[in-house]
Amino acid sequence: MKKIRVHRLCLLFLLLGTTLRVVPAEASGKQTRDRDRFVAKLMQRMTLEEKVGQLCQCAGGGDLTGPNNERIPRTEPVVKGEIGSMLNILGLDSVRKYQQAAMQSRLQIPLIFGLDVIHGYRIGFPLPLAEAASFDLKMIEESARWAATEAAAEGCNWTFAPMVDVSWDARWGRVMEGAGEDPYYGARVAAARVHGFQGEDLAAENTIMACVKHFAGYGAPIAGKDYNSVDMSLGHFANFYMPPYKAAVEAGAATVMTAFNDLNNIPCTANEFLLRRLLKERWGFDGFVVSDMNAVSEMLAHRYAADGADAAAKALNAGLDMEMVTLNYHTHLSDLIRKGVVKEAVLDEAVRRILNKKYELGLFADPYRYCNEARAAATLRSAAMRDAARRMAERSMVLLENHNAALPLSPQVRRVALIGQLAKTQSDMLGSWSLWSDHEGVVTLYDALLKRGVEVNYSPGYDFDKNVIIDLEGAMAQAAKSDVVVVALGERSLESGERCSKADITIAAEQQKLVEELRKSGKPVIVLLMCGRPVIFNQVRHSASAILCTWWLGCEAGTALCNVLWGDYNPSAKLPMTFPAQIGQVPLYYQFKSTGRPQSPEGWTTSYIDTSYEPAYPFGYGLSYTRFAYSELAVSEGDGEGVHARVAVTVTNTGTRAGEEVVQLYVRDEVASITRPVKELRGFEKINLQAGESRRVSFDITDAQLGFYDNALNYVVEKGDFTLLVGTSSRDLQQVAFRLK
Ligand code: NOJ
Repeated sequence: MKKIRVHRLCLLFLLLGTTLRVVPAEASGKQTRDRDRFVAKLMQRMTLEEKVGQLCQCAGGGDLTGPNNERIPRTEPVVKGEIGSMLNILGLDSVRKYQQAAMQSRLQIPLIFGLDVIHGYRIGFPLPLAEAASFDLKMIEESARWAATEAAAEGCNWTFAPMVDVSWDARWGRVMEGAGEDPYYGARVAAARVHGFQGEDLAAENTIMACVKHFAGYGAPIAGKDYNSVDMSLGHFANFYMPPYKAAVEAGAATVMTAFNDLNNIPCTANEFLLRRLLKERWGFDGFVVSDMNAVSEMLAHRYAADGADAAAKALNAGLDMEMVTLNYHTHLSDLIRKGVVKEAVLDEAVRRILNKKYELGLFADPYRYCNEARAAATLRSAAMRDAARRMAERSMVLLENHNAALPLSPQVRRVALIGQLAKTQSDMLGSWSLWSDHEGVVTLYDALLKRGVEVNYSPGYDFDKNVIIDLEGAMAQAAKSDVVVVALGERSLESGERCSKADITIAAEQQKLVEELRKSGKPVIVLLMCGRPVIFNQVRHSASAILCTWWLGCEAGTALCNVLWGDYNPSAKLPMTFPAQIGQVPLYYQFKSTGRPQSPEGWTTSYIDTSYEPAYPFGYGLSYTRFAYSELAVSEGDGEGVHARVAVTVTNTGTRAGEEVVQLYVRDEVASITRPVKELRGFEKINLQAGESRRVSFDITDAQLGFYDNALNYVVEKGDFTLLVGTSSRDLQQVAFRLK
């Protein structure tokens, strides 16, 4: 076990500021020289106060508010050049009003306008976690591009997305906004989303700046409580949490948002290691860093800063370029610079980074570039976008159970008992972060079934506020006169998302009991599980005829659901997060380590005495209406030029209809210089096979499949034995040995 390749990135070098620069494509060439010249000239003309102004971001949506909700006049600070960016200003009129104020300022530096455009804008798309379940990077990128296209047409040029925080904890309500538990997959999705939002040209009409968040480790709050402390070793951070941030930066993300939490005992908002050493120096990030909302002031509550001035100095010195909402930079920075607590060069660097992006957005050429009524009218709410939302929704649903091929429904099914309020509420289909989406445009399952021309026998079934079954008799009567019972249960949209951590993610017992009762009708009972996170539902797991995890699917939820129920689209999604069987198992994830006493049903191992350690459904799991068989797994020689080996498998569609399969590659490092997980996803391919068709799928085994970060943050690849595992989920795999010589 000898190290054969070490990228020289040890901590010592890190601290000395040695860099292995990742230079995004746009940061080279004539355009960059023009930009740099323009910005340098502009900065020569800026007063200290005007420079500080560029670092301040104010919230709209009513009057601008300062700390303690003190009101400050609406456009006056913008006219004075005291504000560089605004968030939550919605619509062309408002954006234009503030931009006009900026054009009255002495140097006419345009504002940038940020919004949380997370899963669609006016047209709501599925939750990011749902989209991640598709394992369809092209569609995920396309979804982000649609959101950017719409938002850019209505004044926005900056989204606070993608959230790329890995999480192993389904109690953390914010898992709905990410790509799940896996760092490799999370990195792939992060890059796809950044490309989707930004494209190749920030000034293009269908792109906006992305903001990678929340740097770093926000997905690992202790006990799953949102905003809680995060504590992990650097080696753990590097291997399990860092990859998506790095991938997003390498994909050219224009901005990064700091996390609310601390990491290694320093709030991320003033974490010099994260912001300067890792992000800016080591990764060569050339964009700017913004705090999360109020997070500079919150360093007082962290008890890391004594007062606002201290917080401002610590944050800027650590590399935080822009403060979101609170006014510590605004109030204290000029003084701090005059006193020498913060060097002017540090301020200049932040200003330059922000102005560079304004230049790249094309705002100096035309500050009203994103304010064009005709373009907005032609772009918003297009039929093509709606169609994309529907396709994305179909690809996001995970088929968890399907006993006796209960699904798809046969064309003869004409009478549907539809039970559950979630089948009828529009806003619940949009999920968290649907602030800007059209709620009235949402097609519910109820609407879609009617449109399909089937008889819909609806009953609300369950009261979410009172947590009781309602009108069971009515529901049973509806079941009695129908061919099939479809039950929508799960969470309402405000149960997952920011601040929505739960101590128990079990679906309310009464909801599950409703399913048991409906089974007494003797009709097939199809459960649609609507949720923003993995949930637990053991009572219905084995009793329902079929269970489809639908998450929250956006504005075309109903149409997509109908298409999947009747098999017009064959489900192809896989779980991007493990579904636990018991709440006490959380955090639960597939890439655990062996430990000295690997888990087994025997005693004295890494297990429980009162319950199983097995999940309800593992990462990567998801059924189809057809079946896939894996055979002839084999490993062959590489090319001697970076490809160490190739592993190939034959996948056959053994069912009677066409379907898509996500072929997954996992790797286990048998012996390493640090403890390594039992397996890690290191490749996947989504393929489409006709009934009876076979395809050989192969994966290259390169450093990227075999390496890891050691405890000094060096990416290393070590000689020795590996196991390559290929299959349909993290649990169902075939394996073959491979030795790296
Ligand atoms: C707080 C959230 O943590 C962050 O993700 C979001 O972008 C900001 N608020 C702005 O709304």
